[in-house]
Amino acid sequence: MKRVEAIVKPSKLEAIQKGLTLAEMPCMTVIPVKGAGMQKGYSEIYRGTEKPMILMSKVMIICVVSDENLEKCIDVILENASEGNVGDGKIFVYEVYDAVRIRNGERGNAAIR
Ligand SMILES: Nc1ncnc2c1ncn2[C@@H]1O[C@H](COP(=O)(O)OP(=O)(O)OP(=O)(O)O)[C@@H](O)[C@H]1O
Ligand SMILES: [Mg+2]
Repeated sequence: MKRVEAIVKPSKLEAIQKGLTLAEMPCMTVIPVKGAGMQKGYSEIYRGTEKPMILMSKVMIICVVSDENLEKCIDVILENASEGNVGDGKIFVYEVYDAVRIRNGERGNAAIR
């Protein structure tokens, strides 16, 4: 299993959720975050003006998926979040040791399906 952590523009969340649901990966955790990428906030417009050293509002979408679904998950996020602009976001992928469905004790892939 892999944990896919995508940090994207808030305006992309709805399309990403729709895309992941259509691709049969509806499970996700979404957290509002603030962050800086390579531009450290400099080149991104904030309320019409450039402001130095600000943290941009983004959303972090966390999906734990099977190894088999990993590339499909990344593709869906890219398709729905990429405009080819700085600040489009970033995806981090982590190894997941285990998952447990609390209701019935299912483990691993059975718990994330
Ligand atoms: N190395 C990193 N570590 C932690 N968070 C990061 C890292 N890089 C990016 N982020 C997070 O992702 C968000 C979006 O990053 P961003 O798209 O600006 O990346 P970038 O590396 O600057 O690429 P680009 O040149 O396309 O803007 C940041 O606001 C930050 O929250
Ligand atoms: Mg950036």
